[in-house]
Amino acid sequence: MNRVPNPFKATLGASPPFLAGREQEVADFTDALFDGPGAHERISLITGPRGVGKTVLLNAFQDAARAESWWVVSETATSGFTQRLQDAVYRIIHTHFRTHEKRLTGLSIASLGGVQFAEAESYRPEMTLRDVLSEFFTLQEHIDSLVGQPPVGLLITLDELHFNRKDELIDFGATIQHLVRENREIAVTMAGIPQSVKPLLASDSGQNPVTFLRRANKIELGLVPDSAVRTALLSPLADLGFEWEQAAVDLAVEMCGGYPFMIQLVGQYLFRAREGSKITVASVEAGADRARKRLGELVHEPSLADLSAQDRAFLAAMAHDDGASKMADIAQRLGVDPQYAGTYRRRLIDAEMITTAGYGYVDFSLPYMREYLRQHYLSN
Ligand SMILES: Nc1ncnc2c1ncn2[C@@H]1O[C@H](COP(=O)(O)OP(=O)(O)O)[C@@H](O)[C@H]1O
Ligand SMILES: [Mg+2]
Repeated sequence: MNRVPNPFKATLGASPPFLAGREQEVADFTDALFDGPGAHERISLITGPRGVGKTVLLNAFQDAARAESWWVVSETATSGFTQRLQDAVYRIIHTHFRTHEKRLTGLSIASLGGVQFAEAESYRPEMTLRDVLSEFFTLQEHIDSLVGQPPVGLLITLDELHFNRKDELIDFGATIQHLVRENREIAVTMAGIPQSVKPLLASDSGQNPVTFLRRANKIELGLVPDSAVRTALLSPLADLGFEWEQAAVDLAVEMCGGYPFMIQLVGQYLFRAREGSKITVASVEAGADRARKRLGELVHEPSLADLSAQDRAFLAAMAHDDGASKMADIAQRLGVDPQYAGTYRRRLIDAEMITTAGYGYVDFSLPYMREYLRQHYLSN
């Protein structure tokens, strides 16, 4: 009985069965698709710590765009991404518009408004992303006017933004800005962790900021409210004939701490620890324990690895406290003066690892970071 596949998706990048607390972001993006070229949310930049749901929100934007019949091309911003985007758009031109050419009998696409389709077909390696995109939009606009349909746009999503790719991003940004100025139906949504993205936006580090990114609509993802967590835990199981003990729901919500990845981890493991068709308090306790361990491996460990040894020492010094830490105590524990500690405080706030918690106090941003540090970094 009840041998059903686990409905939760505790995998980085995998869309959850219920997307909690992101309705506004998706609605704003969808509105921007209708609002036409220049709508602010058409160029959006998502930041937030690991596991907060950046990739999954990019996925949701893709779904929203596809639902409006937009084209979607998605890439990771690793070296050579502009070339890969160019290839992907070229493939759309090559396969889709060829098919269209046959459907539009009596109309010769090859002669549309001077666009030489035959030319577009023979791949010219010296072409730039801008050339290929311009050709794409020119062809699409022609088809739209021939068919008499609303304009069909193109969404590009770019994940894992990193300042190491700054030069390529500057080129990419220049291309996109050019297309926006030409009133093309383009949208670009990007995502990255704060440490990797902030240097691209900075102007105070003596480096030129990437203006295209500075102007983008900023979506800073954080924790989601408990009410949304509750729905995200209950709804995937609702239709499958499972029952929850009332106290089990409350406990599961509490264990998630509003953290999106924890919703899927807790959900996945409490489901495995179910008793018959019941989710009990014991199921949640067993599940939350495994969920926390997994979160440590997949989020806390890599997040700490991104930081400098001094930053990690600062965080470890915070982990002695049961709640928010007093800056003076941290400085004392580290044996450094307050100004020096203040520098690390600033950097860790920028990295969204910690937040201010009242004057002179700081606290962890990620749930269970304290416990993770205690276990792995404090030898007492
Ligand atoms: N809003 C959300 N509601 C429910 N689950 C979510 C939500 N956002 C992310 N998740 C889940 O959390 C995990 C991490 O999401 P992901 O988008 O990969 O994070 P990021 O890209 O920020 O590191 C995935 O298992 C995903 O299904
Ligand atoms: Mg991601």
